[in-house]
Amino acid sequence: MNEAILFEAEDLAVRYPGGDLALHNINFKVKAPTFLAIVGPNGSGKSTLLKTSLGMLRPQRGYMRVLGYDTVTESNKIRKMVRYVPQRDRIEMSIPIKVKDIALMGRLLKKAPPRFARTKDKEIARNALKRVNMDNYWNHSFNELSGGQRQRVLVARALASDGSLLMLDEPLAGTDAESQSLIADVLGEYHQEHNVSIVMVTHDLNPIHSFVKDVLMLKNTVIGIGTPCDMMDPDLLVKVYGPSAKVVEYGGHRYCVTHDSGIDRHD
Ligand SMILES: Nc1ncnc2c1ncn2[C@@H]1O[C@H](COP(=O)(O)OP(=O)(O)O)[C@@H](O)[C@H]1O
Ligand SMILES: [Mg+2]
Repeated sequence: MNEAILFEAEDLAVRYPGGDLALHNINFKVKAPTFLAIVGPNGSGKSTLLKTSLGMLRPQRGYMRVLGYDTVTESNKIRKMVRYVPQRDRIEMSIPIKVKDIALMGRLLKKAPPRFARTKDKEIARNALKRVNMDNYWNHSFNELSGGQRQRVLVARALASDGSLLMLDEPLAGTDAESQSLIADVLGEYHQEHNVSIVMVTHDLNPIHSFVKDVLMLKNTVIGIGTPCDMMDPDLLVKVYGPSAKVVEYGGHRYCVTHDSGIDRHD
C-alpha cells in the first residue's frame, strides 16, 4: 500500500447497466495530500468517478485505488477514511430533521453502535457549523433552509466527521454567491490547517483557483491533468467545451470562458 498516492486509476472503464460507457481508458495518478478539482461538462463522468472511488460502482475493466486501497476489494477501508458530500440534487429530505442532527450525523455515522452524541461530539458539530456561519441555525429545521444554507450544513457535517479525505460533488452548484465564497474559503483553510486531501467536483474553478493544486479534466476519459494554469489551455478547453470556449487575458489574470461554466478566473 502506498499512502502517498491519493488516486490511481489504470485502464479504468465504468458502465451503468444498460447504458454506454460513462468512463473509459482512464489512466492517472495524483499524489496526496492535495486539493484536487475534477472539471468537465455535464455528463462527462465526474460523479461516476467519485462513486467508483468509493466502491459504489464496480469498474467494467481496469482498477482504481484510493490511498492504496482497491475500490472493489477494500471499499470498507476507503469509506472509513472518506467524508463524502454527494451532489445536492441527489439528496432526498422527506423526513423532518434539524440542522444539529445533520451536523451530528458527521460524528455518529462512523461510531460503532450504540451511537449517541457526547458533549464533545456536540462541541465539534457546533464548531463545524460555526465555520460555515450556520451555528445560529442549530435548532432550525433543515428543510426550511435555502439551497446555499443547506449546502453549508452538509459541508459542516463533513468537517465534523473524521477521515483523511474529503470528497464533494458540486458543492457550489446552485448556491448563492455568499455561500459559494464561504464554502470555498472554508475548504481552502481546512486543507491548509489539516493534513486532509480534498477532492471537489466543480463547474467553476474561479472560487477555488487559489487553493487547488491539481486539476483533472474529464470528458468520459482523461483530457488532461495538471496545475490550474496547465489546464487553462485554449486547445484543451475547446476539446472539452466546444469551439466557443476560450481563454482571455485581462488585467494580468487569465479567464476561461465556456458556455458551460461561466467564467473561470486564474491568476
Ligand atoms: N444511474 C445512472 N444510470 C445510467 N446512466 C447514468 C447514471 N448516472 C449517470 N449516467 C450516465 O453516465 C454518464 C456520466 O454521468 P455523470 O457521472 O453523472 O456525469 P457528471 O457528473 O460529469 O455530470 C452520463 O452519460 C450519464 O447520463
Ligand atoms: Mg455529477
